[in-house]
Amino acid sequence: MTIERDARLREVQSWGSFFRFGIDAPAVGKDARPGQFVMVKVSDGTAPLLRRPLGIHDADAGGFDLFFSIVGRGTEALSRKAPGDRLDVIGALGKGFTMPAPAEGKTAYLVGGGRGIAPLYFLARELARAGARPIVFYGGRTRDEIPIRDRFERAGIEVRCSTDDGSFGFAGFVTALVDQELIKSRPAKVYACGPDRMMKALAGITARHAVPAEFSLESIMGCGIGACWGCVQRIRNESGDGWVKICEEGPVFPGERILWP
Ligand SMILES: Cc1cc2nc3c(=O)[nH]c(=O)nc-3n(C[C@H](O)[C@H](O)[C@H](O)COP(=O)(O)OP(=O)(O)OC[C@H]3O[C@@H](n4cnc5c(N)ncnc54)[C@H](O)[C@@H]3O)c2cc1C
Ligand code: FES
Repeated sequence: MTIERDARLREVQSWGSFFRFGIDAPAVGKDARPGQFVMVKVSDGTAPLLRRPLGIHDADAGGFDLFFSIVGRGTEALSRKAPGDRLDVIGALGKGFTMPAPAEGKTAYLVGGGRGIAPLYFLARELARAGARPIVFYGGRTRDEIPIRDRFERAGIEVRCSTDDGSFGFAGFVTALVDQELIKSRPAKVYACGPDRMMKALAGITARHAVPAEFSLESIMGCGIGACWGCVQRIRNESGDGWVKICEEGPVFPGERILWP
């Protein structure tokens, strides 16, 4: 973990309330793994005071990318940053996704809902680099909510889209699209990030199809480094049920360990 107080915003892309930031931050970028996150200071003053957690959307030795949507004042403040601005970030934090071993098979399904697509781009690139075949299932409420489909395609990654209103791709929830696909084929693993309701439904589907799955959980985080107990999640352990901190033990957990609310 590094505190990089002099990261620089290099590039901004936006689609309505969705933003992609390219950030020069070599100390964070060089060690980042798919599924990890950063804590970002969103304003130079004290409002809002707390850093906000954001998943690492992509990374290399020069820095990392973020992909986020505006939901409140922190993400709104962040969205007003411009290329050249300084950013203060702590990362890379948490435990990321585990890669399927070659013996487990080559295909992996990556299921993202809305802004939950963020960490799946980095994961897809790393899986492809390791010789696996990632297939991304990307769901949004409307076609405007699946803005980075072409980013995956440009990287040579297969994407299947769904929209709740049927304005693009499969008409319906992304979970229905994945369920339909799992009837026909069995990937080595399913990885997911998105709204809790989507992930809870997907956990039921992957369990029914007996496919191992990993879920990246969200929580409101005070510190991101295990100090405040602001991010607890009920988990099933060998020793029984208990509470763990999402920032330390996660944010990624195997499906069978998560006790969904
Ligand atoms: C590990 C991790 C990775 C994340 N990665 C991304 C990412 O890559 N891209 C992205 O867009 N977002 C991501 N998030 C969510 C992001 O942290 C929140 O959207 C952000 O902190 C909201 O801050 P805000 O000040 O804009 O909203 P606030 O003003 O703090 O909140 C606005 C509203 O959203 C609700 N809310 C805020 N945070 C969350 C949350 N985490 N879960 C559920 N409801 C919440 C609040 O209760 C409130 O109703 C991630 C969260 C975690 C824990
Ligand atoms: S956010 Fe503080 S302990 Fe997890």
